[in-house]
Amino acid sequence: MSAVAALQLNLAGRRLLVVGASSGVGREVVLQLARAGARVVLAARRRERLEAAVATLQADGCDAHAVVCDVRDEAQCQTAVGQAIEALGGLDGFVYAPGVAKLSMLQDARHEDWRHTLDVNLVGAALITAAAMDALRKSQGRAVFVSSYVVRQTLPGVGLYSTSKVGLDGLIEAWRMEAPEVDLTRVVLGNTLDTEFAASWGDAQVASITKHWVRRGLFPAPKMMPLEAAAEVIATLFAFRGYVDDIAVMPRLRDAEGQGYADAGPTPERHPALDTSPLKGVK
Ligand SMILES: NC(=O)c1ccc[n+]([C@@H]2O[C@H](COP(=O)([O-])OP(=O)(O)OC[C@H]3O[C@@H](n4cnc5c(N)ncnc54)[C@H](OP(=O)(O)O)[C@@H]3O)[C@@H](O)[C@H]2O)c1
Repeated sequence: MSAVAALQLNLAGRRLLVVGASSGVGREVVLQLARAGARVVLAARRRERLEAAVATLQADGCDAHAVVCDVRDEAQCQTAVGQAIEALGGLDGFVYAPGVAKLSMLQDARHEDWRHTLDVNLVGAALITAAAMDALRKSQGRAVFVSSYVVRQTLPGVGLYSTSKVGLDGLIEAWRMEAPEVDLTRVVLGNTLDTEFAASWGDAQVASITKHWVRRGLFPAPKMMPLEAAAEVIATLFAFRGYVDDIAVMPRLRDAEGQGYADAGPTPERHPALDTSPLKGVK
């Protein structure tokens, strides 16, 4: 566990699957879970990333396995969950972390943009949950879904993404009705450093969308929190037996100190999408 840990977690033997474990939040969560004693399976599309993380964990004496899975494909979701259950001898929980966000005004969003966003952020979550549910019913386990603060307040140009996350809320509520023996937790997450979330956003795209934020007084962007701190809160959920339906993990004022978004720019090498340089001259 990182230096910010308040508790020493003991998850010895807990059998957990993390989907979206090749980078960012999912990767950091699975590292922390495994180092707290959980037996873990890492799933995502990029095999080499998963295998590198598994090798790191195994070198530390952890029990870790990789399964390749594109959550847009139903058969791959079923196979990945089946392989996880087989490798672990059952399943006590999973984290659904995959998330994509194309910046686009709704006026410009095309069918393929909607399909891709909803397939990864919402439909994939539905397919993974359905595939895992029998095993979770048996273990009275927990499913954790990584959501975003945009469900509370969206922004111009983020509607594709925020709509998918609001849909995820509906999915979680509906599963609670159909599987009351399983705990389902939504994690509202604030801006987090050191992920690849915004890696595909180009300067021109950022400039064209964020000018709407500037005009409405919504930019400079909110603060960002350390990846380890965000992941640590998510990992702790597996130490509880129940009663955690909904949590928010948000940056604090002190996370902004020294970053100076408005003045010096927000360490753009760590989060290029929030680099203010494309905004120069925007009024
Ligand atoms: N970073 C933030 O500031 C922030 C803020 C609020 C909420 N969130 C949420 O946090 C979650 C994690 O995002 P992140 O910031 O860690 O971003 P990230 O570094 O880009 O991680 C995204 C993960 O999703 C996986 N993924 C994407 N498409 C997939 C697909 N078709 N099939 C399987 N896996 C897929 C990626 O793996 P592969 O590419 O290898 O498949 C990767 O492991 C997301 O749900 C996001 O909405 C992030």
